[in-house]
Amino acid sequence: MKEAIDVAVLGATGTVGQKFIRLLEGHPMFRLAELVASERSAGKAYAQAVAWKQETPIPASAAGMVVRPLHAPLSSSILFSGLDSSVAGEAEQSYAGLGHTVISNASNHRMGDRVPLIIPEINPDHFGLVHHQPGPGAIITNSNCSSMFLAMALAPIHRAFGVEKVQVTTMQAISGAGYPGVASLDILGNVIPFIRNEEEKLEEEVAKILGTLNGDHVVPASFAVSAQCNRVPVHDGHTETVSLKLVRNASLEEVRETLAGFRGLPQERELPSAPPAPLILVDEPDRPQPARDVWRANGMATLIGRLRPCPVLDYKMVILGHNTVRGAAGAAILNAEAFVSLGYHLPR
Ligand SMILES: NC(=O)c1ccc[n+]([C@@H]2O[C@H](COP(=O)([O-])OP(=O)(O)OC[C@H]3O[C@@H](n4cnc5c(N)ncnc54)[C@H](OP(=O)(O)O)[C@@H]3O)[C@@H](O)[C@H]2O)c1
Repeated sequence: MKEAIDVAVLGATGTVGQKFIRLLEGHPMFRLAELVASERSAGKAYAQAVAWKQETPIPASAAGMVVRPLHAPLSSSILFSGLDSSVAGEAEQSYAGLGHTVISNASNHRMGDRVPLIIPEINPDHFGLVHHQPGPGAIITNSNCSSMFLAMALAPIHRAFGVEKVQVTTMQAISGAGYPGVASLDILGNVIPFIRNEEEKLEEEVAKILGTLNGDHVVPASFAVSAQCNRVPVHDGHTETVSLKLVRNASLEEVRETLAGFRGLPQERELPSAPPAPLILVDEPDRPQPARDVWRANGMATLIGRLRPCPVLDYKMVILGHNTVRGAAGAAILNAEAFVSLGYHLPR
C-alpha cells in the first residue's frame, strides 16, 4: 500500500472545514497534518478554536493540533480549502505559487479560464487545465453546492439526448450559509427568496462543468439555465425542482434508465469516497426529503425523485444532495482522490 499523502485544511474551523476534518479521519490516501484558520483561531489547539457542530466527536488526531494562521508555511502537498471567499482568492493563489495543490470549495477561482471546475463523474479530463496554470502548484475547484446536484442530474441526460433549456428552483439548507449563518429570527418559520450571487453561480458553473475542454480553456455547454434560489429552514440538504427541455426526443423510460445507469471515473476506479452510484432514483411519490434521505450513500449521492412529464418543457423532477458533503468537503476530497489516481499529483 502506498504511503498516505499529507494534507492541510484551510478554514478548518468553518462549516466546510469541520466536514473536512470529519471525512479525512482514517482516510486511506490522505493524512491530516496541518490546520489553518484566521488570526482569531491561530495558536490555539483545534478543540479550543472551533465551535464544533458535527454529530460525531472531534477526531482525536485533530483535537490537539495547533491551528496556524493563514499564509503560515506548510509542508503538506495537498491543501483543502474551506476558506471564506473574502480571503480565499489571494491565499489559494499564493499557496499554489509555493508548489501546493489547492483543492478549493471557494467560488473565487471557479470560473478562471485555466482552473478546472471538476465533478470527477462528469469531466475528469478538465484536470488537464492545470498544465496551463503558472505553477509550480495548482488550483482545482469544486462547484457551488446547488450547481453540483444540478450538473450531476443533467450530465447523463445531456450526453444521451442533449439539453436545450433548464428551469431550476432551489430550497437550500441553512448550513449552506456557514456558521453562524442566517439569524434564527430571519429563517425560523420563513423562506428567504434571495441568496446573493447564487443564481448566477448555478447558471454559469453548470455550463462550464458540462462544457468541452479545448486546449487551455473550456467551451461552456450552450443550453440556458434559469435559476431561482431560496433559503429554507432545513438543517442540511439542498432540494431542487428541475424542469428541462431536450434536444432529441426521449421517452420517460429512456430518461429514467439513463439516469439510473450513470457511472463515472470514481466508480470505475473505486475511489475511497465514491458513492456506488452517483445518482439514486427514489420511487416513493413524496421523496426525496432532506430530513430522511440526505445521508444516503454517506451524503455523496444525488437523489432524484418524481421524474415525470412536464407540460411546459419535456420532463421534471426533484433532486436532493448533502450541501456540505457532496456539495463541498466530500466533493473536494473525491476530486483529490481522482487527481492523485489519474497521476496528476506530484509530491512537493
Ligand atoms: N457551507 C456550504 O454548504 C458550502 C458549500 C460549498 C462551498 N462553500 C464555500 O466554502 C467556503 C467556506 O464556507 P463555510 O460555510 O465553511 O464558511 P464558515 O463556516 O464561515 O467558515 C469560514 C472559514 O474561513 C476562515 N476565515 C474567515 N476569515 C478568515 C481570514 N481573514 N483569514 C483566515 N481564515 C479566515 C474561518 O476561520 P475562523 O473560524 O478562525 O474565523 C473559517 O475557518 C466559502 O468560500 C463558501 O462559499 C460552502
